[in-house]
Amino acid sequence: MAAAVLRAARPEDRDEAEALAGAAFSADPPRPGPEVAGTSEVLRRVAEDPADGRLLATSTARLCGQWWGGRRVPAVALGGVAVDLTARGRGVGRALLTDTFDAAQAAGASLVALIPSTHEFYRKAGCGIAGRRSVYAIDTHELRTLPRPADTPVYRRATSDDVPAVAALVAAHAARTNGVLDHDASTGSAVQYVAVRDDVVVGWCALGRRASERGNYTVTVLDLVGADPATELALWRDLVADEPSARQVHALLPAGSLLENHLPRQTEPVEDATWMLGLLDVPAALAGRGYPRGVRTRLTLDVGSDVWSLDVADSSARVAAGAQAGPRVRLGLADLASVYAGHLDPLSAHHAGLLEGDEAAVESLRTLFAGPPAVLARPF
Ligand SMILES: CC(C)(COP(=O)(O)OP(=O)(O)OC[C@H]1O[C@@H](n2cnc3c(N)ncnc32)[C@H](O)[C@@H]1OP(=O)(O)O)[C@@H](O)C(=O)NCCC(=O)NCCS
Repeated sequence: MAAAVLRAARPEDRDEAEALAGAAFSADPPRPGPEVAGTSEVLRRVAEDPADGRLLATSTARLCGQWWGGRRVPAVALGGVAVDLTARGRGVGRALLTDTFDAAQAAGASLVALIPSTHEFYRKAGCGIAGRRSVYAIDTHELRTLPRPADTPVYRRATSDDVPAVAALVAAHAARTNGVLDHDASTGSAVQYVAVRDDVVVGWCALGRRASERGNYTVTVLDLVGADPATELALWRDLVADEPSARQVHALLPAGSLLENHLPRQTEPVEDATWMLGLLDVPAALAGRGYPRGVRTRLTLDVGSDVWSLDVADSSARVAAGAQAGPRVRLGLADLASVYAGHLDPLSAHHAGLLEGDEAAVESLRTLFAGPPAVLARPF
C-alpha cells in the first residue's frame, strides 16, 4: 500500500471518522452534554487511503493547559486514536500519531496527555507513564457521614454562564497540584452541578451513572472541585451520595486527597489504569513548568540525539541547546516524560539502568521533579 495521506479532518469526514472511532472502542463514545457545550479548540486528524479516499485512521486532540509545579503548560489531551481493523500493523497508527503530535506542536502545545489502551504504541512514540488512575467504589452511606458544613451552599445545575467561574475554580485547584488539565466544559453524558454561596460559585462537580445490581445505578464522579475543604466535603455528602437510589459511587481517590482522609475505611480499587505524558517540545516543556522553590541547579540532559542545558533558579528554568559544564544525565524521551511527571524516581531509574549519570546529577533531577503525584482527573 502507498503511504496514507495525513490531513486535518474536514466537516464531511465526521460520520466516517466517528464510525471508525466507535468501532475501535467498546465504550460508549462521549456525547456533548445537554446544557454546557464544549469550549476548547479541538484538532482532528485523519489518515486516508490514497487509492480510494477511504478513512484509515482518526485522532482527536483537545488544546488545553496542563499544570505542573504551579504553572500552566500548553498541552493537548489526546483521545480516540483509532486505525481501521483492516489497516493495522503497517505503520498507519505511527504515521497518524506523528502527524497529530506535529499539528499539536504547531498549535503551541509542548505536552501531550493521554490514557492508553496500549502502552507500547505510545512508548515507541516517546510517551512515558505519568501516573495511575485508581477508581474506588465508595458506599454512599459512608459519604453521608461526612461533616455537614456550618454554611451549606446552594446547589443547582450548571449552565454555560458558569463556565468562567468553574474554569477559575479548576485553575486555582490545579495550581496547587500536578497533572490537572484546564476545565473542559463538555463532560459527555455527565450532569454538571455548581455549589453557590453568597452568589459566588464555590464548587463544581460532573456526575455520571452506570448500571448497577446494587441500587438503581452507580454514580460515577468525573470531576469535583471545591473552593475550600468544607465545600468539597459538602459536594461529596450532598450531591455525590445520591442515596438511596445509588448505593455506590465510583471515583478517583488520589493518595492524600481530602476525601481519602475522611473515609472510615480503605477499599481496593475497582479499576486501575495508567495515564501517559509526552514531551512534544522538550525545551518548551521544561521551561514552561514550575520547580520547587529555593532550588538552584545546572544540569545537562542528554536525550538521545538531543542535548539540553537546564538552568533552574527562582522556581523556573532556562533551557538551551547543547551541553554545559557540570552534572550530566542521559535517558530516553519516554523516561524523561515519566520523570517530568514525578512518576519515575530518577534514583530508581538509575538503579534500573534506564538513566545514566553521576550521583549529584541524579539527586538534582530528583529534587527538581519532586512534587505531589500527578493526577489526571477527567477521562477524555
Ligand atoms: C493501537 C493502534 C492505534 C495501533 O495502530 P497501528 O497502525 O496498528 O500501529 P503501527 O503499525 O503504526 O505500529 C507502530 C508501532 O507500535 C507498535 N504497536 C502497535 N500496536 C501495538 C500493540 N497493541 N501492542 C504493542 N505494540 C504495538 C507496533 O509494533 C509498531 O512498532 P515497531 O515500529 O517497532 O514495529 C491500533 O491497533 C488501534 O486502532 N487499536 C484500537 C484502538 C486503540 O486501542 N487505540 C489506542 C487508544 S489509546
